[in-house]
Amino acid sequence: MPCTGTKTRQGVTVTGARKLFIKTYGCQMNVYDSARMAQALESGGYETTSRPEDADMILLNTCHIREKAAEKMYSELGRLKPLRTKRPDLKIGVAGCVAQAEGEEIFRRQPMVDLVVGPQAYHRLPAMAQAAGAGKKMLDTEFPREDKFDHLPKPSAGRRAPAAFLTVQEGCDKFCTFCVVPYTRGAEASRPAPRILAEARDLVARGAVEITLLGQNVNAWQGAADDGPWNLAKLIRELSRIDGLERIRFTTSHPNDMDEELIAAHGECEKLMPYLHLPVQAGSDRILKAMNRRHTAQGYLRLIERIRAVRPDIALSGDFIVGFPGETAEDFEATLALCKEVRYAAAFSFKYSARPGTPAADRTQVDEDEKKERLTRLQALLARHQAEFQQAQVGRTLKVLVEKPGRKPGQMAGKSEYLHAVHMPADTGTLGRVVSARILASERNSLSAEPISGCADS
Ligand code: SAH
Ligand code: SF4
Ligand code: F3S
Repeated sequence: MPCTGTKTRQGVTVTGARKLFIKTYGCQMNVYDSARMAQALESGGYETTSRPEDADMILLNTCHIREKAAEKMYSELGRLKPLRTKRPDLKIGVAGCVAQAEGEEIFRRQPMVDLVVGPQAYHRLPAMAQAAGAGKKMLDTEFPREDKFDHLPKPSAGRRAPAAFLTVQEGCDKFCTFCVVPYTRGAEASRPAPRILAEARDLVARGAVEITLLGQNVNAWQGAADDGPWNLAKLIRELSRIDGLERIRFTTSHPNDMDEELIAAHGECEKLMPYLHLPVQAGSDRILKAMNRRHTAQGYLRLIERIRAVRPDIALSGDFIVGFPGETAEDFEATLALCKEVRYAAAFSFKYSARPGTPAADRTQVDEDEKKERLTRLQALLARHQAEFQQAQVGRTLKVLVEKPGRKPGQMAGKSEYLHAVHMPADTGTLGRVVSARILASERNSLSAEPISGCADS
C-alpha cells in the first residue's frame, strides 16, 4: 500500500500511516466484518499490514462457537505479549463473538488488551481506537438501535477480488440449544434491499464476478420495496439483473426457511450456483428435538428431494454435531444413515462443545472418547462421499471462476460452480474470468484441470 504521508501521533511526527493488523477467526461473516472494520479504521488514519510486528494496532476478530475457537484467541493474546512488552504503544483490540460473549472478562484475563468491541458496534470503532490510543480502556458490547452498516464507510475505491462476500442478514432467533450465535450476534435483522443492491453494484463495478450473500440465517432474510415484501428468492432475482455479476451464492441456510420460491430459484435462476449449504446437525429425531431444530430427519430429506427435483445436479453440504448430550449409539447411527442417503459433496463436522449460557451445556454430557470415536467414523464417511463426488467430475467440463494465482508458477486457482477448489495451468490474464476447464484429477480437497482454449465465457 502507498505511504499516506506525514502524520502527527501523540505529539510525535511520524512518517506514514499507522498500521493495522487484523487476524480473523470463525465464519465468513467475520471475514466480511474484518474488511469493513479495516475500512472504518482507514478513516482514522490506519492502513492494513500483513505483518503483526509492523502494526500499531492488532485486532483479533474472534469466534465463540466452540470452546476451542474461544481458547485460540487467548493463546494468540499470549503469543502477542512479547510484542507488546517490546512496544508498549502497540494497541491490542478484541472484536467478534468472544468480545460480545466475554466483554470485561477479557480485560481481567488479559490486562494488556486495550479495546473490546462486539459485532454490532463496529461503526463506533474509529472513536474507540482514538480513545484507546490516548490510553483509555474501551469496551462496547451494546446492541445499538442504529444499524452499523448505515454508519460504516462504503468500501474504498480500487479493484477487489473476483469473489466477494456481502452480508445481508445478521443474528438468529432460532435458539438451537447448543448454539451461542443468538447471544453473540443478537436477534435476526435484515439489511434493506436497496442498500444490498447498491453494495452489490459497487462490488461488481470494482471487479466482483461472484457474490456470496451472507447471514447466520441467510434464507430468513426479509425486505420490502415499493412493490411489497421481498424474500431471499426475490433479492436473488433482482441481483441477477446486474450486468457483470455472473454468480450468486448464499450461506448459511436453515432448513425451515427454505421456502417454495427459494427452492424454485435453484431451477430458474442461471446465476444462482448449484451448491447449497444446508446444515442438519443430526439424523435422529430425538436429538433434533433436544437441539430445538424444529424439523425431523424425514422433513429434511423431503426438502432435499424437492430441491433436487428442480436442480438434480445440486451439490449439498452440511454441518454435523456428534456427541450432543443424550446422543446414544443408535442416535449416532441415524446420523450416518442420513448422510448415506444425502451423499454430501462437502461437510463440516464437530464434537459437541458445551457453551456456557446455552441450554444444552448443563445436560449430562457424552463421554469424550465416545465423541472422538463417533467423529472419526462420521468424518471417514463424509470424506468418502466427498471423494466420490470429486471423482465423478473427472472428465467433465466445469466452469471455473479464476480467483488467484495457484500453488505452482504458471498455475491459477479458482472455484467450480459446485465450489470445488480447482487448479489449472493458466496465465494471470484469466483472473476474474469464468473459464471452461476439463477436470483431469481429483486431489484431497481440490481438482486439477486444464482450460479448454477459446471457451472462456465471461
Ligand atoms: N446458522 C447455522 C450455523 C451457524 S454455526 C445453522 O443454523 O446451521 C456453524 C456450525 O457450528 C453449526 O452448524 C454447528 O454444526 C456448529 N456448532 C454450533 N455450536 C456448536 C457447539 N456448541 N458445539 C459444536 N459445534 C457447534
Ligand atoms: Fe445457531 Fe441454530 Fe441459529 Fe444456526 S439456527 S445460528 S445453529 S441457533
Ligand atoms: Fe463464530 Fe460468531 Fe461466526 S461465534 S461462527 S464468528 S457468528
